[in-house]
Amino acid sequence: MQILENISLKQYNTFGIEAKARFFCEVQSLEDLNQVLRLKGYPQKFILGGGSNMLITKDIDALVLFINLKGIRVIGETAQEVDIEVMAGENWHQLVLYTLSKNYGGIENLSLIPGNTGTAPIQNIGAYGVELKDVFIACEAVDCATAIPKTFSKTDCKFGYRDSFFKNEGKGKYIISSVQLRLQKVNHKLHTSYGAIEEELRAMGIVKPTIKDISNAVIRIRRHKLPDPKDLGNSGSFFKNPVLSKSAFLSFNNSYPEAPFYKVTADTYKIPAGWLIEQCGFKGKRYGDAGVHVKQALVIVNYGTATGAELLSLAERIQEKVMQTFGIAIATEVNIIK
Ligand code: EPU
Repeated sequence: MQILENISLKQYNTFGIEAKARFFCEVQSLEDLNQVLRLKGYPQKFILGGGSNMLITKDIDALVLFINLKGIRVIGETAQEVDIEVMAGENWHQLVLYTLSKNYGGIENLSLIPGNTGTAPIQNIGAYGVELKDVFIACEAVDCATAIPKTFSKTDCKFGYRDSFFKNEGKGKYIISSVQLRLQKVNHKLHTSYGAIEEELRAMGIVKPTIKDISNAVIRIRRHKLPDPKDLGNSGSFFKNPVLSKSAFLSFNNSYPEAPFYKVTADTYKIPAGWLIEQCGFKGKRYGDAGVHVKQALVIVNYGTATGAELLSLAERIQEKVMQTFGIAIATEVNIIK
């Protein structure tokens, strides 16, 4: 295990932002992790996973721990189900492809989500009607202060919409080292009711879809709407969809009956932030190298050399305009590193 100095983080964040880590260490084993957390002389540590959900706005004056733990293994099995343990540094989409190759169902709707498995629980990744919590059993995490490992059950994780314990009380306190998932070997429960998936499957001419077909449909939809970070720096949805109380929703709906919405519970409704941002005229707009994606207004993009501060300033401008126009606050989904 080596501690490097002044390392560029450009290739470690999907926005492709140029920023430096004062110190940098690649963690390849649980032993490495234990050792590095016990090192004296580096009081500030910064945890880096797939770098797909963060906006770095300045150099990081800390020891950056790049969590590159690898491995997938079966930890339990019945005729119907299989439990797998996946190390944190496994790329999420590669994991989805692995489960498809074994015909394990459960995460096919989460195809092509950027990032690593270890960061998936932090924001309870979700897409097309499925969230990580639907297949999650538990995760192992190491306490940054003591280097002691701890198991977090699904209840401990307090999952919510793009939210968990690790984004709130547990923020910055733990490093997730592995995640356990329960998947279906037979009688796959397919989630095809999400409108875009139904349409895509129809366009693909598929009547009785398999989990592989669903994954392919999701991949097609995502490739069409969402930019690939390899071509255009981005972090997926930059904002969360705002959730309104029933009374706030009724008044909004009265003013904007054309706006799409989803009922979340009997008293709460979600409005697509992409719609609000598009109405404010930002879709496809570009300010220097900072822009709003042409096909999905929820995605902020770096056309090349935008700084984190420039992207943040665009995000703040969008938040202000949405607030002025609709009286609705949109919170960032992406972690802003200030
Ligand atoms: N819309 C617009 N203009 C836009 C974008 C969207 O009017 O520029 C409208 C669409 O027409 C549609 C509605 O908003 O009626 C919803 O759009 P979409 O289905 O694309 O989903 P989303 O709500 O914008 C969420 C997730 C995505 C996930 C998709 C599909 C959040 C913050 N985002 O986006 O997640 O892939 O649903 O399930 O919940 C991510 O988290 O990085 C991400 C990409």
